Amino acid sequence: MAKNIVIVGAQWGDEGKGKIVDILTKNADIVVRFQGGNNAGHTVIVNDEKYVFHLMPSGILHENKACVIGDGVVVDPEVLLGEIEVLEEKGIFNGKNLHISKNAHLIMPYHKRLDISKERLKGDQKIGTTGRGIGPAYEDKAARTGIKCGDLLDENLFREKLKRNITEKNHYIQNVLHQVGFEVHEVYHTYMAIAEKIAPYIIDTSHYLYTAMNAKKKILFEGAQGTLLDIDHGTYPYVTSSNTTAGAASVGTGIGPTRLDKAIGITKAYTTRVGEGPFPTELDGKEADRLREHGGEYGATTGRPRRVGWFDALALRYAARINGLDGLVITKLDVLDNLKKLKVCIGYKYKGKKITDFPADAAMLELCTPIYEIHEGWFEDTTKIKKFEKLPKKAQEYIRRLEELSGIKAVMLSVGAARNETIMIKNPFTR
Ligand code: GDP
Ligand code: IMO
Ligand code: MG
Repeated sequence: MAKNIVIVGAQWGDEGKGKIVDILTKNADIVVRFQGGNNAGHTVIVNDEKYVFHLMPSGILHENKACVIGDGVVVDPEVLLGEIEVLEEKGIFNGKNLHISKNAHLIMPYHKRLDISKERLKGDQKIGTTGRGIGPAYEDKAARTGIKCGDLLDENLFREKLKRNITEKNHYIQNVLHQVGFEVHEVYHTYMAIAEKIAPYIIDTSHYLYTAMNAKKKILFEGAQGTLLDIDHGTYPYVTSSNTTAGAASVGTGIGPTRLDKAIGITKAYTTRVGEGPFPTELDGKEADRLREHGGEYGATTGRPRRVGWFDALALRYAARINGLDGLVITKLDVLDNLKKLKVCIGYKYKGKKITDFPADAAMLELCTPIYEIHEGWFEDTTKIKKFEKLPKKAQEYIRRLEELSGIKAVMLSVGAARNETIMIKNPFTR
């Protein structure tokens, strides 16, 4: 029986991780985010009420479960406080169910400004970031000049680090970008006011998780973004600034890799992407509009229309390899209910030759055109179905084919956004 399970996006994000993490939290004791920041938008729908979590782990709606923001996350404290306040108003947040790593780096106001300004300077080379300051915050972490959540607990240390950072940032903001710089005292007061409210949650989460594991607690590791947005293994430079793949669950929480039991990849039954970068199976025109409307494919963080396309088996096989996937969750099957024909990409044509391995290289991927196999649609409503065997035969065949192409079995299917619109094949915690 698995105790510690990692959930990752197997595509370019927005695969439905939030919904799946919420469901699996029932079997877990603790849910921990291990990377990314509020570039994430994880949707959970419970009793017709919709929640979109950006920093809060998606298990927070369950009573008596602990949620942890791990070391590898970058935290915008204003956004976090906003999420806490909304949950407090609804009586969901009790002050005992959240722990924030003292090692998690802070997103500062200048990170957001730099993110947006640098994107603007890039012109048509832009990445299409969420503008939330994610990249600049991770840059400072790597440059060893970042400010951590734990620094909020020592106002003198915080002021010192802030001063050094603002001096350096203002130099660039004023002399290169020709914009108005930041004032130390303003940022200091804003952050100290927030610190007062979130300080009680800031702890050594690695130790907390270690102790919980020794007490046989079950832990769900919630990834953000998706495999193809991974800084090392994604379609660089059109990626985010963290490792989004399963290995990051270890370094992003301070739990040794030998303690992780399973990695489960979440994939849509088709593909979407937000922001710039290559996307070989992308659709355009009316076909794209129809899929986008049916799937409600608008960004949960920025509201941007998502780019949509057919399922890409090369990309999924790649995600299976990079994450060492043990199981798949295939979501949004219902979105395909009304299509006469479905396409699945089984190879690429690259410089006149067929390739079947995903090249995680943006320049090469730009030159790839998809080779499709065609599937007949099932033309039936799948949203009420609770068992795999009850799905229309053609939908079953479609799922079986995705399993075959990726070499990984589906453990759950999702046929709607609500909790109960789920087909459990093999609960990864209990079987
Ligand atoms: P995440 O970032 O991976 O958590 O995914 P998002 O929340 O950004 O995007 C997934 C969207 O699809 C959300 O609006 C969900 O409510 C919705 N969703 C999740 N699973 C399903 C499904 O099986 N069918 C449909 N129709 N919608 C789903
Ligand atoms: P969830 O967790 C989809 C994309 C952005 C952009 C690139 C870099 O909801 O799946 P960043 O702001 O991270 O520097 O932007 O990554 N991106 C996402 N796309 N879902 C996400 O998160 C994303 N987080 C970042 O659109 O292309
Ligand atoms: Mg999302």
